[in-house]
Amino acid sequence: MFVLLFGPPGSGKGTQALALAERLGVPHVATGDIFRKHLREGTELGRRVRAYMDRGALVPDLVTCDLVGSRLSEPDAARGVLFDGFPRSVPQLYWLIGHLGASARTLAAVVNLQVPDDAILARITGRRTCTNCGATYHTVSAPPLPDGSCSRCGAAVVQRKDDVEDVVRDRLVAYGAQTFPCLAELRDRLPVHDLSGEGGIDEVQRRIFASLAL
Ligand code: AP5
Ligand code: MG
Ligand code: ZN
Repeated sequence: MFVLLFGPPGSGKGTQALALAERLGVPHVATGDIFRKHLREGTELGRRVRAYMDRGALVPDLVTCDLVGSRLSEPDAARGVLFDGFPRSVPQLYWLIGHLGASARTLAAVVNLQVPDDAILARITGRRTCTNCGATYHTVSAPPLPDGSCSRCGAAVVQRKDDVEDVVRDRLVAYGAQTFPCLAELRDRLPVHDLSGEGGIDEVQRRIFASLAL
């Protein structure tokens, strides 16, 4: 089952994806997380994408689709994937439909988390991310351990470089200009579940599961 999780920056895609992927029994594929792993490890790909990510712009489509193509060729992705943050532009959507279609696979559903801009800014500017396992925290609603380390793995928890207000605003602009048209295109093809991403994390999770009859 190939399911797409949409929503602006900070809408809770990563937070919700863990339980949802587990329930669907498919791997969670978040292009942003994979790019950040390359940044941390200082790979050639990491060096190519850093400037785009730091300024809140989308990484070029060819680079992103190549990365997703190799992830989809791994055995665990054969039966389905929960995509978080992909596709994010109309060309990426067409690439994905063509790529899956070549092996007679199709998209099953789209979940679109909706959160207003002011709530997004509060969530993102308070977010902290583990440098080792990628776990996400929030200074107010989900703090890390008192010494500032990750409660899952003990590593240091830091602020993402693109989580400062100016860059968040640019990411929101990119969402409106490039990802919104992609979502509009999808609506003609399959059911898009528009859900509020506001309220508690468990509450949002229940909404998502109910919309997919899980
Ligand atoms: P990416 O990493 O995908 O970032 P994003 O889309 O901007 O989304 P975020 O990860 O910021 O937010 P989220 O929705 O996952 O929210 P979270 O669950 O963490 O992309 C980063 C960059 O990579 C892009 O700018 C681009 O450069 C590049 N990139 C990635 N994919 C690409 C693609 N396909 N094409 C081209 N470029 C690409 O939650 C946020 C905070 O809110 C957390 O602190 C959390 O604890 C808190 N929170 C979550 N839920 C709740 C709740 N219900 N109530 C209160 N707080 C909550
Ligand atoms: Mg995320
Ligand atoms: Zn960790």
